[in-house]
Amino acid sequence: MQANRQFDPEFFDINPLFARPGEATAAPRYVLGADPMEPETAYQVIHDEIMLDGNARLNLATFVGTWMDDHAGRLYSEAFDKNIVDKDEYPQTAAIEEYCWRMIAGLWHAPEPMETIGTSTIGSSEACMLGGLALKRRWQQARRAAGKPTAQPNLVMSSAVQVCWEKFCNYWDVEARFVPISEEHRSLDGHDLANYVDENTIGVVAIMGVTYTGAYEPVAAISAALDEIQERTGVSVPIHVDAASGGMIAPFLQPELEWDFRLERVHSINTSAHKYGLVYPGLGWIVWRAKDLLPEDLVFQVSYLGGSMPTFALNFSRPGAQVLLQYYLFLRLGFEGYRAVQQSSQDVARYLARGIEKIGAFTLWNDGSDIPVFAWRLTPGHTRNWNLFHLSDRLRAHGWLVPAYSMPDDLSDMTVQRIVVRNGLSLDLAARLLTVIEQETEYLDRLEGPMPVEGQHPGFTH
Ligand SMILES: Cc1ncc(COP(=O)(O)O)c(C=O)c1O
Repeated sequence: MQANRQFDPEFFDINPLFARPGEATAAPRYVLGADPMEPETAYQVIHDEIMLDGNARLNLATFVGTWMDDHAGRLYSEAFDKNIVDKDEYPQTAAIEEYCWRMIAGLWHAPEPMETIGTSTIGSSEACMLGGLALKRRWQQARRAAGKPTAQPNLVMSSAVQVCWEKFCNYWDVEARFVPISEEHRSLDGHDLANYVDENTIGVVAIMGVTYTGAYEPVAAISAALDEIQERTGVSVPIHVDAASGGMIAPFLQPELEWDFRLERVHSINTSAHKYGLVYPGLGWIVWRAKDLLPEDLVFQVSYLGGSMPTFALNFSRPGAQVLLQYYLFLRLGFEGYRAVQQSSQDVARYLARGIEKIGAFTLWNDGSDIPVFAWRLTPGHTRNWNLFHLSDRLRAHGWLVPAYSMPDDLSDMTVQRIVVRNGLSLDLAARLLTVIEQETEYLDRLEGPMPVEGQHPGFTH
């Protein structure tokens, strides 16, 4: 007979049917267990716990890749033991890393891809830190050479930047100067820039694919505004393009758009390979337009792995397998394959945006024609009974994760909802999602009184 079993939050419960003879039927959750566990049992405990995570394919909040093909899976399992930093031990992985960032330099129109410098990173956040550090160090060097103080560097960017830029400014003592977005100036567009830029400005960040909405910032207009400031004041300010998402979309879907190294003021660009680079989580890239834009004193030479290796990164050890996955995709897809994959995501995004607009309750902020991401708001005056957080909750009940959140300054009283279309959200799945959004909007519209608004949580927005 089984004794009365009680739930104890401090312990994992192990089904007594599966525990091996002599094995405990519970294991501590927060304390390292005293004894080993059978591998099958440990596997089952974890397998069961992660069953409660969401379904990655229905997660339309994240930009990060959730699907790769079987060959990528095979390559991954053959290479997960490679440490990217062991370049002496894994020279071919190191060589492949270089093939990749040079290919990307070419995609971004570096004047001489063989004369550029770049690196892989753990993601865009690390890449942005490196880009920001190079800007800061070059600014310091120029100021010192001119006998000017270096105590108060600032970085100019939209209030809609991703949190990694706030971290950069905080961690490296750089004043963050946010240009607020508004209904009239929906992104950093060069307007009013002269009020933010001065001789202490290390750079301006332009975003290709604003996290909140997916819209591109007009890098050429920002560059032109900085040209005008330079003419007037003599202050020359470089641009770093945060192309976390757009860096692997624009070259394929908007090849005519000049946002990259075709603009001389653009010193460096980052992207997340694990977003529209289509690789599993854990890989980003940064490339500088020319070697001299990455100050040499930021690069360390290390010898303890054998050989003398240059390293410019915040991390030391990190997985090398993702670099191989990126190279696999470059070989497998080529330009035309990437174009086709990104185009099909964009077709789905625009289909969904049109469908959502037709429902009648919503106003689109954008329609997915930059990166395959779009946001919408409840049309002012449509209802007082519900808001987009309620709709987000209703969709979650169907398994779909479609976050609602507030916009940044100066639009923080506006709530939007956003869909990120990634490779793997087929038109068929999207059609089903649209039906659910229509049904749930209809349900909410039939309410005779207001839904409670206490305890609503903004969705996750990166
Ligand atoms: C514009 C932008 N920059 C940086 C990041 C951070 O990227 P990662 O998650 O690769 O560190 C994101 C993530 O969504 C982003 O959208």
